[in-house]
Amino acid sequence: MTQSRTEENKRRAAQAALAEVRQGAILGVGTGSTVNCFIDALIQHPGLVRHAVSSSEASTARLGAAGIEVVDLNQVSGLDLYIDGADEADPGRRLIKGGGGALTREKIVAAAARRFVCIVDESKLVPVLGRFPLPVEVIPMARNLVARELRSRGGRPVWRQGFVTDNGNQILDVHDLTISDPLRLEADLNQLVGVVTVGLFAARPADVLLIGSDRGVQKR
Ligand code: 5RP
Repeated sequence: MTQSRTEENKRRAAQAALAEVRQGAILGVGTGSTVNCFIDALIQHPGLVRHAVSSSEASTARLGAAGIEVVDLNQVSGLDLYIDGADEADPGRRLIKGGGGALTREKIVAAAARRFVCIVDESKLVPVLGRFPLPVEVIPMARNLVARELRSRGGRPVWRQGFVTDNGNQILDVHDLTISDPLRLEADLNQLVGVVTVGLFAARPADVLLIGSDRGVQKR
């Protein structure tokens, strides 16, 4: 798959997500290149969204530039809908996220949303999660402590050097994990001291996947 075809498929999925947004919605907005396509598509529909809650400083800036008011999650009682991309999606709509490093706020916004629509190009589909290294956000002083725990579970954590999350933390990208039971692994890694967020979205998977491909958009 060439880069430009992948980009076109992201755009297709993002465009299809517009149909999921009800007039006047309070909308959660994720992070990444697919979401950027979605924000760009939203610009063509002024007034469709009442407010947005953003999952990153980058998306906040893009939404602001598009004239969409961004509010703090604490200012709203809940979100009608959350639109976000993913690094991988399995047949159960469970996801790996955090390639862009925004996993913590993404998980919070997803938890607050009544409905989570995930927009991906077809290259993100996998039968079993784990080809993409699993991002884990850690408190900086606990990085090596958490890395040792991840190694003892068969993973190969690599520190994303030079990257600091919007929350001031660091990321370990964990290679070589066998994610046969995503729900269990998410719960297991969540309880490690020093872990802020695991980029597995299994306890709160997407409700709908919109998959862009050369053949159009499939809803799953
Ligand atoms: C950011 C994410 C993104 O959703 C994920 O990395 C997909 O990005 P893209 O749409 O650029 O392929 O989880 O933290």
